[in-house]
Amino acid sequence: MSYENSYDLCSNLNKEQDSEFTRMTDKAVSRRGFLGGMGALSVGAFIGLTPIAQSVKAAMGTTVHSQLIGFKPIPASTADKVVVPEGYKVTNLISWGDPIFTNAPEFDPSGKAPAADQALQFGDNTDGMSLFPLSDDRAVLAVNNEYTNNDLLFAHKGEKMTADDVKKAQNAHGVSVFEITKTADGWQVDRSGKLNRRITANTPMQLTGPAAGDALLQTEADPTGTEVLGTFNNCANGETPWGTYLTCEENFHGYFGTADDSYEVPAAQQRYGVKPADKRYQWSKFDSRFDLAKNPNEPNRHGWVVEIDPMDPESKPLKRTALGRFKHENAALMIDNSGHAVVYLGDDERGEHLYKFVSKGKYNPNNKAANRNLLEEGTLYVAKFHADAGELKGKGKWIELSFGKNGLTPENGFNSQAEVLIHTRLAATQVGGTTMDRPEWVAVHPNKSSACCTLTNNKNRGNKDNQPVGGPNPRAGNKYGQIVRWTPSNGDHTAAEFDWDLYVIAGNPAVHAGGLQAGTSNITRENMFNSPDGLGFDQGGRLWIMTDGKYSNKDDFAGMGNNQMLCGDPQTGEIHRFLVGPIASEVTGLTFSPDYKTMFVGIQHPGEKGKPSHFPGGGDSKPRSTVVMITREDGGVIGA
Ligand code: FEO
Ligand code: CA
Ligand code: CA
Ligand code: CA
Repeated sequence: MSYENSYDLCSNLNKEQDSEFTRMTDKAVSRRGFLGGMGALSVGAFIGLTPIAQSVKAAMGTTVHSQLIGFKPIPASTADKVVVPEGYKVTNLISWGDPIFTNAPEFDPSGKAPAADQALQFGDNTDGMSLFPLSDDRAVLAVNNEYTNNDLLFAHKGEKMTADDVKKAQNAHGVSVFEITKTADGWQVDRSGKLNRRITANTPMQLTGPAAGDALLQTEADPTGTEVLGTFNNCANGETPWGTYLTCEENFHGYFGTADDSYEVPAAQQRYGVKPADKRYQWSKFDSRFDLAKNPNEPNRHGWVVEIDPMDPESKPLKRTALGRFKHENAALMIDNSGHAVVYLGDDERGEHLYKFVSKGKYNPNNKAANRNLLEEGTLYVAKFHADAGELKGKGKWIELSFGKNGLTPENGFNSQAEVLIHTRLAATQVGGTTMDRPEWVAVHPNKSSACCTLTNNKNRGNKDNQPVGGPNPRAGNKYGQIVRWTPSNGDHTAAEFDWDLYVIAGNPAVHAGGLQAGTSNITRENMFNSPDGLGFDQGGRLWIMTDGKYSNKDDFAGMGNNQMLCGDPQTGEIHRFLVGPIASEVTGLTFSPDYKTMFVGIQHPGEKGKPSHFPGGGDSKPRSTVVMITREDGGVIGA
């Protein structure tokens, strides 16, 4: 979604938590004070990482000192194009509406094409994606298609919806899976690929894991509570070493509604923002599955992480309930040294939480198929951060979300593990998880030493009783966002305890003379940005940061330009601007070719809300979400 996740949730939380945080204002913690705090951190707290202050000087400017980063940083841009450093080039791979089958029609910009066309074409609003190699010059790309924009999808801009329009929007959602081949001109889509597949809001899927079959998941059409249609609002992603794709359901609540005035949304669903009004998508008017009064449990069947086998187009996607139900951003899966699969998960809403799943079983590197059900069973935890007054680092704990423990009992409204998972947010509140500034993507360092999560922004911080200022959320009315980093105890990602610090606090040093609004010392006039969202490490350990922020380039955001991608060095703390997107776009979605010489980047919703973009076609063409490829003219590794 955009800067302010357009859904505003007013949850009636009764929280008693974070009392350990002392209120920390900009006055109390200066930019310099932050560095002092960081400098005092013991190096031993981080394996393979150096606290930022040890090597970053405020006057870093555009000079690159990093051994990891080899490109010349670029300035901010407000141009209607993708800008990259000298020696790099940009090629388009696929745009919304492009055919992914040989029998698919070409894109029709009129907004009058039928639903059947969209079912054979690349979906809209490209987001998280993963590449699965088939050989050196062949691969499968799985790409999320998060949502749709009525003004671009329909000639009538959503004013005169029909049943076929709803079907068309449903077909523009989900996941696009297609083969790509490497040619002399770079990677290209192979429309004849045998693995090509569209997964939409109507594709049959299975609910699996501890919540499958629960009464709360049963509907008239599916009394078993296990057979669900479709996935939508697929935000970011994950991938497993056993070769599957994880697509994460985010703002599922916005697709439901009802015209029945007597219907009252249950409190547990209100916590997820479910409302009777459905002005935006209007699916409930033409598809009774989305009518809350007729199918009150249907929203419970969405908000999960879905596992897809990209190598078998006939396979049924599996909704993994063990990973919890919330507004999932991505699923950062790593194999811990103990052999357990650990998945870090953010819930992107103001004041929601950061989670960790640990598989019950262990990964078997010698038998891929034996790992197929690792995400079926395990333990879910929510993060609780601790910090001393004025500190921007501290310790933290993962609190178990298991039925019968930590107050997750019938007296508190939890009757089974299924209910704990279906109502994950309520469970996290019950155990006192820390309310965060909208956790977006999590990325785990390739050496497994640490993990980072983007906390994109949060206007409610400090303005509502349940969201105290402090710890990893140090600013009231947080406009710019920050990236929190944690190092598990003894390098063990299954451990209950961790140390944390902030890799960066974004800010605007050109507008704010000092304090936290200017950002940490690794933020300069040259690299400033707001609202970090997409996040990923490459094999070399470079941290790629994508933004979904205010692109007004005015006032608090003056000098930041369009949304962008930056490259961070975890060792030195340096951050350099690598790419800037076109007008009114978000940069989201990242994967690489196996040789790391082609970077695939998602340019989402250029020209949203009627803004003057014509990307990628130029002229007066309709703006279209597009996956672009970044390569080096000398054929080298991206970023090096
Ligand atoms: Fe789909 Fe939180 O971004
Ligand atoms: Ca988005
Ligand atoms: Ca996002
Ligand atoms: Ca975002």
